[in-house]
Amino acid sequence: MQALRALLAQLLGLAVALSLSRMVPPMANGASWVVIAALGAALFSRWPLRQPRWWVPIHLAFLPGLLLVSRLEVGAGVWLGGFVALALVFWGTFKGDVPLFLSSDAVTEAVLELVAARAPGRIAELGAGVGTVAVPLARRFPERSIDAWERAPGPFLTCWLRARGRANLRVLRRDFWAVDLGEYDVVFAFLSPAVMARLATKVRAEMRPGTLFVSAAFECPGWAADEAHVLDDRRGTHLYVHRIGAEDRLDP
Ligand SMILES: C[S@@+](CC[C@H](N)C(=O)[O-])C[C@H]1O[C@@H](n2cnc3c(N)ncnc32)[C@H](O)[C@@H]1O
Repeated sequence: MQALRALLAQLLGLAVALSLSRMVPPMANGASWVVIAALGAALFSRWPLRQPRWWVPIHLAFLPGLLLVSRLEVGAGVWLGGFVALALVFWGTFKGDVPLFLSSDAVTEAVLELVAARAPGRIAELGAGVGTVAVPLARRFPERSIDAWERAPGPFLTCWLRARGRANLRVLRRDFWAVDLGEYDVVFAFLSPAVMARLATKVRAEMRPGTLFVSAAFECPGWAADEAHVLDDRRGTHLYVHRIGAEDRLDP
C-alpha cells in the first residue's frame, strides 16, 4: 500500500538525517537535518520502495511543510477539523489508488453526446465524485436511469444533495468493485492509472456485447479503445471509448 511505503520512506529519511546530524554543519536555523531527511525520503521512495515519481515532490515538501505549519499559532481543533474534512473528501485514497478530481465541462459534454447517440438504457458512473457528470446526465436524459457510485462521504453527500428531486438518478455510497456492470448499457469512469488494469478485466468480464465503456484520461492497459477523442479542455483530456463486442469479452 502506497501510504505505508510513504511512511517508511519518511522514517528512513529521518533515520539517515539523525545518523548524519553530528557530521553535517547546521544551516540557517539548524535546518540541515530537515533537508537531509526530506532528500532521503524522496530517494528512498523511488528506491527501494518504488513509489511513482509524483511522490517525490510530496516527500520533499512534507517535513519542511510540517515544521512550518507547526509554528503557526492555531488551536488543535483547527488541525482536527482539517484532518476530518480531508478524510471525508479523500476517503480511501490512503490506499494510493483514486483521489478526487473533477471532470471538465468538455468531458461532461462528450459523455452526454455519446449517450444521446444511443437507445435508452441504464447508465453507471464509477466514482461519481460530486456528480459532475452524473447530474447533467440525469438532467439531460430524464427517461434514462443513472446510478452514481461513490465511496467518499463528502463527495457522496454533495452528489446526493444535487440529485434530490431527480427520480432517475440514484447516488449510492458503495465500493464500485462490488457492482455488477452487466446491468448497464453505458459505464463511465474517470479514475486513475492505478486501477485501470483491474477495471478493464472487470468490464470485459461483466459488460454485455453492444454496451459502451468510456474512460476519461486513463487508458486500459493492453486493451485498445475503439475510439480516442482528444477534448478541448485545459488538460487536453483523452476520452477512450470501448464499444464492447463479443471478441472483447473475458471469462468471468
Ligand atoms: C477522479 S474522481 C472523478 C469524479 C467524477 N467522476 C468526475 O468525473 O468528476 C474519482 C472518484 O472516484 C471515487 N472512488 C475511487 N475508488 C472508488 C471505489 N472503489 N468505489 C467508489 N468510489 C470510488 C473517489 O472517491 C473519487 O471521488
